[in-house]
Amino acid sequence: MIKKCLFPAAGYGTRFLPVTKAMPKEMLPILTKPLIQYGVEEAMEAGCSIMSIITGRGKRAITDHFDISYELEHQIKGSSKENLLEEIRQIIKKCTFTYTRQNEMKGLGDAIYQGNALVGDSDPFAVVLADDLCVNPKGDGILKQMVELYNKYKCCIVAIMEVPKDEVYKYGVIEGNILENDVFMVSNMVEKPEIDKAPSNLAVIGRYILTPDIFKMIEDTKPGKNGEIQITDALCEQAKKSMVIAYKFKGKRFDCGSVDGFVEATNYFYNLEK
Ligand code: G1P
Repeated sequence: MIKKCLFPAAGYGTRFLPVTKAMPKEMLPILTKPLIQYGVEEAMEAGCSIMSIITGRGKRAITDHFDISYELEHQIKGSSKENLLEEIRQIIKKCTFTYTRQNEMKGLGDAIYQGNALVGDSDPFAVVLADDLCVNPKGDGILKQMVELYNKYKCCIVAIMEVPKDEVYKYGVIEGNILENDVFMVSNMVEKPEIDKAPSNLAVIGRYILTPDIFKMIEDTKPGKNGEIQITDALCEQAKKSMVIAYKFKGKRFDCGSVDGFVEATNYFYNLEK
């Protein structure tokens, strides 16, 4: 069983300045819920109950969100507003939250490496990038689909989707051979390739299942794209040494790290609730 989910959440969110100047991008709301809460709910649906968050300076609102606010509880007790807190109360009750800080912005690979202290060395764990908001209106959430696949293959898994060729430069891109419907065995991975150097248009999105041997791979990974330690490079090595699976998930992903994706997600959830 995969019980732990890591949430790298130390990034500055510069695409959303000035709102992210004093507020974590993970706390941007889609309707009334912050982005990271959607991620935590997806992880809970997949069976996780330990949420390990990599934070950084200026991110205290995340810690406060997943804690009881006694003043607020006291203030709204018995009022019609109380039910608005019910979902988050349940999350706090059912999950344990652990935190560590990434002191320097050295890339997603480094952020995940910092999570070693939280997730340990013995069990596989999930990783959710909260600004990729994923939904599957027709069935299981994306992480739950990946956990099921993990139970079959017992190796690292990345979620992928097809993107237009002129957008590959925004993503980690995989090359692989089909194993079964929507499942690829990865043979190569490139972080944010130039359009003409991309091995395919199968882009990694922010959902991973990782086995703890990835920490050793990250230790051996040199700075790559933009001088940062890239999880894509560590996984590429892992794919060459043992096995990494790429899974074309069922559902939809909103890039809430961009204003366009954020507005699209807002409209999607607004129309759902109407
Ligand atoms: C990160 C990863 C990239 C992946 C993307 C998905 O990039 O480095 O491989 O495709 O997340 O959202 P970022 O968007 O943080 O620059």
